[in-house]
Amino acid sequence: MSDIHAYIDAHLGRFREELFEFLRIPSISARREYAPEVRRAAAWLAGKLKEAGLDVAIEETPGHPVVLGEWRGAGPGAPTVLIYGHYDVQPPEPLELWTTPPFEPSLRDGRIYARGAVDDKGQLYLHVKALEAHLRTAGRLPVNVVVLAEGEEEVGSDHLMPFVEKNAARLAADAVVISDTVMVAPGMPTIGASLRGLAYFQIEVQGPSHDLHSGSYGGAVVNPATALARILASFHDEDWRVAIPGFYDDVRSAPEYREQIRAVPFEEEAFRSETGAPALVGEAGFSTLERLWVRPTCEVNGLLSGYTGEGAKTVLPARAMAKVSCRLVPDQDPERIAEAFRRHVERVAPEGVTVSVEYLHGGRPWRARLEGPLYEAAARALERAFGRRPVYAGEGGSIPIVPELERVLGAPVLLMGFGLPGENAHAPDEWMSLENFEKGTHAAAALLSELGR
Ligand code: BES
Ligand code: MN
Ligand code: MN
Repeated sequence: MSDIHAYIDAHLGRFREELFEFLRIPSISARREYAPEVRRAAAWLAGKLKEAGLDVAIEETPGHPVVLGEWRGAGPGAPTVLIYGHYDVQPPEPLELWTTPPFEPSLRDGRIYARGAVDDKGQLYLHVKALEAHLRTAGRLPVNVVVLAEGEEEVGSDHLMPFVEKNAARLAADAVVISDTVMVAPGMPTIGASLRGLAYFQIEVQGPSHDLHSGSYGGAVVNPATALARILASFHDEDWRVAIPGFYDDVRSAPEYREQIRAVPFEEEAFRSETGAPALVGEAGFSTLERLWVRPTCEVNGLLSGYTGEGAKTVLPARAMAKVSCRLVPDQDPERIAEAFRRHVERVAPEGVTVSVEYLHGGRPWRARLEGPLYEAAARALERAFGRRPVYAGEGGSIPIVPELERVLGAPVLLMGFGLPGENAHAPDEWMSLENFEKGTHAAAALLSELGR
């Protein structure tokens, strides 16, 4: 086991160079014109898995391809571990806010800056290098391994869901391991205890058939921007509680989490300052971490209407549009929330405009059971790499495939994330700590050893 870790230490420089190559590929899943780049990232990753010694296939879907790596040399008696990650990234805009270009990775102050550095290429690639370390030193892995890497996580994993259902036998595993979440603080290894679900909507408000002079027509027809503002304002009450009827119906009350959350080290003021917001404000009666981890939300993600150029233009816009997403907690169901959302918008939509709601995609919330051999192995592996036992923390974000993998494969899921607060995922100047990339590689390698025991 020690030569595996010596191998990792001896090759860290090359691992980083290779990660930089991966990061130079702009695999932006949301943009049609980048589809060839997404495919190039899949092929690049497949090549590296093959070099490490796995059997690799690029599996087509109606969308971006799935990369599947397999190593079954431990035999049918040994456990099988499925490692999931995503090789697609978020769009990099606004480009002018990046210190160095998003697809020209740069190492500064111990941080790897690039789009996808931490979400999720760096965290996925460290597993590939952990596999390589085992295979090069021991000539084998301690367990059977399936690597499942998708190119559509950032757009909702629509085609991975049916892929998993269809290939359940091939993906069969005793444990699922994912590095796509964050640690609560540097040096504090963290196991993700929950993920929020998601229901994403687009609201369109159509008023007149074309833009109108706001003097000649204003006052006589309803302004779609104003109508949309009314609709959006109706989503919360005075206490920032979501005011959509039925929204909280399925929220499981979980008083025990209050205690667990209070035990997590959290610096409120540091968190506020990281956001740049003047104050932390949210649903009345809950702490910041409760609001992030165990309470659902309804957020405007984008808003478009009327004239937004320089100076003044007196115009009554023909239409207005908003993107809205709800983060969900157990046992909220995205389809049921979509129904409640649609009914509410239709009810509050003012007369004089036409309003439509489109449900774009959704994912279920998830909560870990946090016990059993997988979690014990992870605690030992993280302690080996970081020198201390992990803490358990909720996650505000979503990974839609997690509950589906758990359900279809009937295997526990471990979220062993190496991101850090302030990492700027989805934002300009995204970074991953180089130290976490390196220690993460050791932890991933140690986890395989532990699971093989
Ligand atoms: N890695 C994130 C999920 C995440 C974010 C976990 C923060 C823990 C903390 C993932 O890539 C992501 O961004 N997911 C999307 C899902 C959506 C596009 C369906 C999200 O949460 O917005
Ligand atoms: Mn991610
Ligand atoms: Mn993401």
